[in-house]
Amino acid sequence: MNDKPTTIVIFGASGDLTRRKLIPALFNSYCKKRLPPQFNIVGYARRDWDGDQFRDLLYEGMQQFASDELVDEEWHSFCKHISYFKGNLTDSADFGALRQFLYGLEDFPANRLYYLAIAPGFFVPVVQFLGENNMVSEEKGWRRIVIEKPFGHDLQSARDLNEAIHHVFDEHQIYRIDHYLGKETAQNILYFRFANTIFEPVWNRNYIDNVQISVTESVDVGHRAGYYDQAGVVRDMFQNHLMQLLSLVAMEPPASFKADAVRNEKFKLFSSIRPLDLGQTVRAQYEGYLDANGVAENSQTPTYAALTMYIDNWRWKGVPFYLRSGKALKKKNTEIIIQFERPPHLMFEELDETQLVPNVLSMCIQPDEGAHFSLQAKIPDSVETQEVSMEFHYQSEFKGSPLPDAYERLLLDAIRGDASLYTRSDGIEAAWQIIDPVISGWENDSNSPSMVSYPIGSWGPKEADTLLERNKHVWRHGCIHD
Ligand code: BG6
Repeated sequence: MNDKPTTIVIFGASGDLTRRKLIPALFNSYCKKRLPPQFNIVGYARRDWDGDQFRDLLYEGMQQFASDELVDEEWHSFCKHISYFKGNLTDSADFGALRQFLYGLEDFPANRLYYLAIAPGFFVPVVQFLGENNMVSEEKGWRRIVIEKPFGHDLQSARDLNEAIHHVFDEHQIYRIDHYLGKETAQNILYFRFANTIFEPVWNRNYIDNVQISVTESVDVGHRAGYYDQAGVVRDMFQNHLMQLLSLVAMEPPASFKADAVRNEKFKLFSSIRPLDLGQTVRAQYEGYLDANGVAENSQTPTYAALTMYIDNWRWKGVPFYLRSGKALKKKNTEIIIQFERPPHLMFEELDETQLVPNVLSMCIQPDEGAHFSLQAKIPDSVETQEVSMEFHYQSEFKGSPLPDAYERLLLDAIRGDASLYTRSDGIEAAWQIIDPVISGWENDSNSPSMVSYPIGSWGPKEADTLLERNKHVWRHGCIHD
């Protein structure tokens, strides 16, 4: 089925995502000969462009955003597969015309991937028009749809959106994208846990003291303030990316790497998360956020959040999971810290038990992808110990193989029909179910923690440190130096 001709239709083709991510990802797969032998890429947007203008813009984007040097010859042969269709997202007749255009383009009945790189307000009309114009039936080839985030604004809107899409597409045709799942290092979490034997026996409450998931960004909201001020860090980062990282770290081993086996385990994990305690959350804004263009006066939108989560199941009962994310912080860094318990008994009398730093495994998701494991070692010619580190860096270990962009893997998976790195409807709703009460609690509950501020370029507000100090924990960095 995958060798059949395939058409990829990108709705929102004039947008940033198409030039910055989608086309470079498809081009790389083309150069690696991973796309089906016969394929078409059709950009759909409102702009009054012809095919040449569209391809020229994509070429400029490639020069700006592609990770490797662009070989013109390869680009020109790739370009022959790209066309442009001018149409409106809110006009069903334009979808009918698109259908005719696609029939003309496709020599044989082809498979089709519809990619929605559009504002969320257009998701439902586009899905409906695809249905109305009979562009969804799979009689002559598969029909799949990739939907970008944000998937809903809260639990109810995510449910409504799932329902509206299910009126037209079956769940097996729907690919809800979370680009964090396409990151090599995020995928590696499962390999780390389940392709080795030494971690899984200690991967539980008996040996792990606490887990920290940090996704810090140095950029501020920049030109995205209009969107961001409506969303805030919890919708923008926690509901999707941090929850997905958490699921990879904490879920039970699936029996296979098949989409439903993986997604069943994620759903089970999300269902075991204890409702969040507002008293164990921190919300903050970086100083100067309110002055940014596009931010509402007196906006209460957080640009930083930290929270403590507990998973009430056999494996994790009582282990705090600390999650934090924010903008305008000191460094861009995504890492997962697994802090192990202290040894139960210390036979070295000279050592002060309380000074001994526990073992820490740091999984560095980005930017310096790799892993660090810190241990205690005896200092030569002394009775004392020192913390030492065993490290692995992708850059030095896998020389010559730059990490593919997340979109490359995810797009290929959608073409191949592998949804294991995509989110299922129940998973997305379960994640909202956990996150939603925090957002509404902050907005409506007068006892919830008030908004605090933090200096640009810091590691966030001191309240986030206090959150951990209550349990005698501290935020750790294993992958970067302050
Ligand atoms: C996006 C968010 O989903 O992820 C952005 O909307 C954020 O606000 C981005 O900056 C971070 O992605 P990455 O891959 O740069 O860590």
